[in-house]
Order: sequence, then structure tokens, then C-alpha cells
Amino acid sequence: MIPDDIKNRIRDIVGAENALDSDLDRFGYSYDASFVPLFPANKPELVVRPATTDEVSRIMAVACEHGIPVTPRGAATGRTGGSIPLKGGISMSLERMTKILELDVNNMMVWAEAGVRTIDLYNACAARGLFYPPDPASWKFSTIGGNVAENAGGMRAVKYGVTSNYVMGLEVVLADGSVLLTGGKAIKNVTGYNLTSLFTGSEGTLGIITKALLRLIPMPKKRGTLQLMFRTLDDGCNTIHQMLQSGLLPAAAEIMDRFCLEAVAKHRKTEHDPAIGCCIIVEIDGEDDAALEAQARKMEAVARQCGVYRFRVAQSQQESDELWAIRRGLSSAIASLVPNRLGEDISVPRDAFPEVVRRISAIAEKHKLTIAVYGHAGDGNIHPSILCDLSKPGEEERVHRAVEELFDATLAVGGTLSGEHGIGITKRPYIAKALGEAGVKALAAVKQALDPKGILNPGKIW
Ligand code: LAC
Ligand code: ZN
Repeated sequence: MIPDDIKNRIRDIVGAENALDSDLDRFGYSYDASFVPLFPANKPELVVRPATTDEVSRIMAVACEHGIPVTPRGAATGRTGGSIPLKGGISMSLERMTKILELDVNNMMVWAEAGVRTIDLYNACAARGLFYPPDPASWKFSTIGGNVAENAGGMRAVKYGVTSNYVMGLEVVLADGSVLLTGGKAIKNVTGYNLTSLFTGSEGTLGIITKALLRLIPMPKKRGTLQLMFRTLDDGCNTIHQMLQSGLLPAAAEIMDRFCLEAVAKHRKTEHDPAIGCCIIVEIDGEDDAALEAQARKMEAVARQCGVYRFRVAQSQQESDELWAIRRGLSSAIASLVPNRLGEDISVPRDAFPEVVRRISAIAEKHKLTIAVYGHAGDGNIHPSILCDLSKPGEEERVHRAVEELFDATLAVGGTLSGEHGIGITKRPYIAKALGEAGVKALAAVKQALDPKGILNPGKIW
């Protein structure tokens, strides 16, 4: 329990209106987009909404002195429970730190506070002809701090990489309240350990990211969207594989299986053509229309060789926006179909992608479960989603075994448990399988060094 005098000390730092402890406020900050079952202890005792790094630092100093757990929180769009305050204590929401501090056009870099929404950063850069590529599906809501803390991926990773490929430096408040600056604008930098990389993807367990310095690239002049329909999922997987093997590099290549297409149709109250078992949405980009046309023609040729059922190029910006909106809304469309959905986030080497999808189908069949498959096929990161009703007798056990086998299959082809959602709460039981004893020990040593009292986001990753 946080005693009243300490709550008052925190109120003095951020103002009473930004240190909330009503039941409703505590509930509002108790869950995220993973929708893991909540327990009463998962509610924060105090929701704190600092506006500056100095406030974050002063709050951490108080928390450290009294051993109070602190769980940082962006927009809570995370999928693995990263921002759920498992041990109560303080929910440190960065929602008021929304300033883009410096858009350095000459160096093509931007300093942003943690609470800046991903899409707002994208738009601010785009207005100056610059491109911030990482685009997690939730980019209209997610924040830069959360993206960095989770090392978020997105649709465009196949060509442009993930968040960590753009983080040049960070401002981080450490467990004891001290403020650390990592990296900087120098493109080459090997002065000491790479702390920027260490904090990127650390899921709020090593420090509170308050600002990020992000690298930008020139905005592609033209973009186009292609929609490819196939009779089978295997044909779709094979097409992406052949495309990449032939040297084509789409900006994004997203796949959806039959279950996903049916879910979308139900959600949009349209009819699904039963002949179609798989859809791929591709983004291409380039210097001019001719460059796009050439890419589209080559992709069409590969797709035809792989037996594409329907191939079309979006004819307008509106059509293209609609296709991407469908893709971004897919996770919710699927989740709305069933009482429970376990959304996984496996990531495999690109050339193992068709194989792992075949293994997923076999696992689904063996356990008589529906596993919808969609995701970032171009970079090998997919979201097999187990659709189930855990209240049915025996279902939980079957789901559990299917998840185990899914991870085994992923590791067997050289893949990993999470491509972009992190470990959080939901994948904790499997981390030793992926990293081995030595790997877990190294992680624990880093955690011990930076957070000896274990107050930062306790209960996550381990
Ligand atoms: C997506 C999220 C779930 O790709 O990562 O839709
Ligand atoms: Zn994703």
C-alpha cells in the first residue's frame, strides 16, 4: 500500500489532478490490448501522469526510496500485458508528454517525447518530406515511448525494418530517478556499450523512456497497393516466397487466411467468395509511376506462376486506404468472433515462412482448434490466432498444448517467440525455451544491475 503521505508527496510533484486514485481511474489504467484476465492486484494504487522528465525523475526517486513498483504506460495498445501493473503500485502514464521537440531536417532526425502518437510523428515528418517507417497496426493510437519500449514492428518492416532500426538515442529515467542520455546524432557511435539498443525493447523493466531521437529517411515519392487472392494459403505463402527470392522487395506484404477473410466479411457485412482461401495485400513504393508499374508487373508475373486467383491494383487512394484499414482492423475483427482469442507473434527466417504455416495448420488439425493465420508474411512475422472458448471442458488444455507445439515448431525452424509484441506476461513461461539458461542469466544480470530493488515493471519478461 502506498501511504497517504507518499501519495501527497507525489501530488506535490505532478499536481493533484495528475495523481489519481479513484476506483474508476485505477480500473482505467489496469488493462491493455492483450486482454489477459485481470486480478484485483493488477490495479495500480496510484495513476501518475507527469508532464516533464524532471517530474518522472522526482517520482522515481520517491518510488525507489520506498520500494514502490512502477509500471510505465503509453497508450496501452500492447499485446502481451506490458503496461499492466501486475504488482499494484504506480501506473506511470506518459500520455501528457506529447511534444515533438525538434525536427532536424538537415540531419534527418527527430526528438520526440514518449507520449507522441506514432501517426502524429509520421505526419509531422511527412509534412517535411521525411519518412518515419515503423508502422505498428495500432499506429493511430500507439505512442513512440511504447513503440521503443516494445521495439514495435509493423507492416513496412519487410523493406524498412522495425523501431530499433531508427532509434539513434534515448532519454531514460533510471530506477533511482537519475536521468540517462544514450546515443546521439552521430551516425557512427561505438563509445561504450550500446545502451540505446539495450533500452529499446526492454519493456519498461530497465528504465522509463521519456524521449527518443529517431532517424528518418526521404519519403518515397509514390506508393501503390496490390491485392492478390489465392485459392489456398499455401499458394499465397509460396507467392511471397518466390517474390522475395526473385529479388522483388515490397514495402509491405501482408497475408490473411480464410478465417480472417470470413471475419472481415462478417465485420463489414459483406459476402466472402468461398473460392478464396488467402489474400495478400502488398504495398509498393518508388520514385515515379513507371517504377511502380514495373514492380507491379513483375509481381503479377510471379503471382500468375504461383496460381493467383485474382490480381488487382488499387485504383485510388481511397481504395488503397480501405484495404490497409481492413488489415489494421483485422485483429479486432477476429477477436470479436469468439469468446477467447490467443494472438501469437512468432517470427521466423523469411525462407521458413511457408513451412511454419504448414506446421501451424497441422497443429490446428491435430488439436481440433481453429488457428487463424495473418501477419507480416514478407518479413516472416505472423500472428497465429487461436480462436477458442476456454469455458468449454478440456479446451484450455488443448490450447495450451497447441501453443507449446507452435513455439516448438517455430524454434525448430530457427524462429523466435515474439517478433514485435514482446514477452510481457503472456509469453513469460516460454522465454527459457527460446533463450536458454545462459541467455536468461545474462538478462537477469542486466536487470539486477539497473533495477536492484526490482521496482520497474515487476513481473514482466521473467
Ligand atoms: C497486427 C498486430 C496485432 O499486426 O501486431 O495486427
Ligand atoms: Zn503485427
